[in-house]
Amino acid sequence: MRITTIASAAGVLSAALALADAAAADGAAVVAAQCGGCHALERPDEALGLAERAQRKAPPLHYAGNKFREDWLVRWLQDPVTIRPGGVFAPAHAVSTPEGDMIDEETLPEHPVLGADEAKAVARHLMTLRPHDDLIAAQSYEPGTVALRMGQMNFSKFKGCDSCHQDTPDFGGVSGPELYTAWERLQPAFITSYIADPTAWDPNTMMPRGSLNAAEVHKLADYLKALAEEEQ
Ligand code: HEC
Ligand code: HEC
Repeated sequence: MRITTIASAAGVLSAALALADAAAADGAAVVAAQCGGCHALERPDEALGLAERAQRKAPPLHYAGNKFREDWLVRWLQDPVTIRPGGVFAPAHAVSTPEGDMIDEETLPEHPVLGADEAKAVARHLMTLRPHDDLIAAQSYEPGTVALRMGQMNFSKFKGCDSCHQDTPDFGGVSGPELYTAWERLQPAFITSYIADPTAWDPNTMMPRGSLNAAEVHKLADYLKALAEEEQ
């Protein structure tokens, strides 16, 4: 009796695994057919330098599995709200006004929307794209706490991150992704690795490589975590 129980549990498990595999396979087909026109699904020719960066229609997805939280992907693909207030290449969306350069939001493209099942299958597949497990494994970050006001001052006054990033809706620079949602979108080890050395992920990134030590990087990540907790 006991033996049958175990055997059937194993049967259920392998059937579930087979289903998960099938979902990932479907996801791969959807991604190949519908996403590659805008997103890099394989490492692009990074030797092209700024030209490669300026031509991008969308952020690279070839290391999606090292970058995103799967639950966020599933939600966002069904409701793709703007992450980069200035688009993927802000100069392409800027217009001169008497108050200085502004982003013409009308020129930001609309993102395709996926249904719930498709979003799950696509997210499952994207999570298998992990060429940078080495960069993730090199991180030693243990999430900690930082007082919001201290974190804010550090982020803007001392580190100058706010010249390109928003840490509050509509406040801060527009050439980088908004960061008040970074903690819910991104894996913590990706956040610290990218802040420490964005060029290790993307040689043509628009984000300059600073000279922050690990403790400084961890403090910035703790601030992004504090922003997420404040929202709840
Ligand atoms: C018409 C071009 C286009 C197509 C087709 C497209 N995307 Fe995008 N995608 C974009 C742009 C532009 C952004 C950046 C949006 C932003 O930052 O506000 C984006 C952002 C994303 C992001 C967030 C990336 C990040 O680094 O923040 C994910 C995930 C994503 N797309 C997945 C997909 C998937 C999966 C498909 C196929 C089902 C797809 N996209 C098809 C243009 C496209
Ligand atoms: C000169 C502009 C600039 C500055 C200054 C800057 N960044 Fe960035 N950052 C970017 C851009 C642009 C990207 C997206 C990569 C790209 O488009 O090439 C990015 C990406 C990121 C990401 C990954 C987010 C995502 O969704 O992909 C994090 C995290 C980040 N920056 C944190 C920081 C922190 C913390 C600081 C301050 C120490 C900082 N950045 C300073 C421009 C900047």
